[in-house]
Amino acid sequence: MYFKNNKFFIEKIESLKIVKKYGTPTYCYSLNKLKKNIENFQSSFKSINPLICFSVKSNNNLQILKEIKRSGMGADVVSKGEMIQALKAGISPNKIVFSGVGKNTEELKFAIEKKILLINAESKSEIIEIERLARLKKSIVNIGLRLNPNIDARTLKKISTGKHEDKFGLTEINFLNVLNNFKDSKFLNIKCLSVHIGSQITDYKPYSKMINVLDDMINKSNHVFDYIDLGGGMGVQYKKKTKSFNYKKYNSIIENFLKKHKVKIIFEPGRSIIANSAVLLTQIIYIKNTNKKSFVILDAAMNDLMRPALYGSYHGVIPLLKNNKKNKKIHDFVGPICETTDKFLSIKGFQNLKEKDFIAISDVGAYGMSLSSNYNLRPKPVEVMVDKKSTKIILRRQKLLNII
Ligand code: LLP
Repeated sequence: MYFKNNKFFIEKIESLKIVKKYGTPTYCYSLNKLKKNIENFQSSFKSINPLICFSVKSNNNLQILKEIKRSGMGADVVSKGEMIQALKAGISPNKIVFSGVGKNTEELKFAIEKKILLINAESKSEIIEIERLARLKKSIVNIGLRLNPNIDARTLKKISTGKHEDKFGLTEINFLNVLNNFKDSKFLNIKCLSVHIGSQITDYKPYSKMINVLDDMINKSNHVFDYIDLGGGMGVQYKKKTKSFNYKKYNSIIENFLKKHKVKIIFEPGRSIIANSAVLLTQIIYIKNTNKKSFVILDAAMNDLMRPALYGSYHGVIPLLKNNKKNKKIHDFVGPICETTDKFLSIKGFQNLKEKDFIAISDVGAYGMSLSSNYNLRPKPVEVMVDKKSTKIILRRQKLLNII
């Protein structure tokens, strides 16, 4: 995505052509950016030959999951819906891992029937339930135990998952208790130790601590795990000044770990694969000026892209046509929803804008469409994929008729 003659391009297509063809708001992905991200991730960890399971919660579009499958990746799912979608995309069950603190009986039954690679269990009660279902079905189920390593991932508070105050995983004591109680079960095969400490982590150091905790845990448990699932969480550069994640360092920490433990590593990345492959294209409906501010009212809202409202997250705003005329006022880019928090960005100074101009909101591929809703009874946007000079719809715009 780049500017040429002041026009914003997505691959070889002028973005203004896309909004003319598909309307707004529109999620627009670059297929080749997605492919590049996958290649980069795979090559960063080539020396340890991991199984990479794309975290479907970050983006569940079927065409995107088909691309994930073509790249050889598996899927990390957290619901029956995501499992069905991953299977529909052709991802093999033996590359699917299932996480989550509250998997219900129906979901567990489905996972057992489909013989997925691992159910990563997070509590004693869940393990009892999996064992009960496995016994009923007379099958042996491969499970992972998720450890809560009590590590501060130093990320947004609302997306940190690895501390004792967070609801995820088993504390060290519970982990060891459960392991001792179930390691001889006839119906369960405890194959994996899993962990996920949070999301949008830009520093490798929390991972380094996490690996130390895992090392310690494996030694204490005296159990042979076939897999260590390290979760996802690698951060991206929503702002240019954010430092980029040091994959080299993380890889070498894992290489050292593997010298001591002969296991297969699993990763569950979402954001690092898909976030920067998409923009949300939107049109200015009105501009409302006050003494202090210019409210730029867009046709996209917090129901289309929830991250700024929910976490105060930053997403850049880009004009589709640059005019290089500066307006010094504070610009608040807001949506039409009746909530003060329906605001994408407040920024001092922007280029001169007028009503009906088009804007792109950047880096929305992860937790963009997948977190969207019908709040205010607004239909969800269309998703479009750009591949060099061509565009295609990968999910139709919702029709009002279907939600009313
Ligand atoms: N594995 C597990 C068990 C997870 O809970 C998550 C994300 C991932 C993998 C993928 O993490 P990633 O590589 O994408 O960071 N909605 C929030 C993010 C919530 C993440 C939840 N878990 C956001 O928009 O920032």
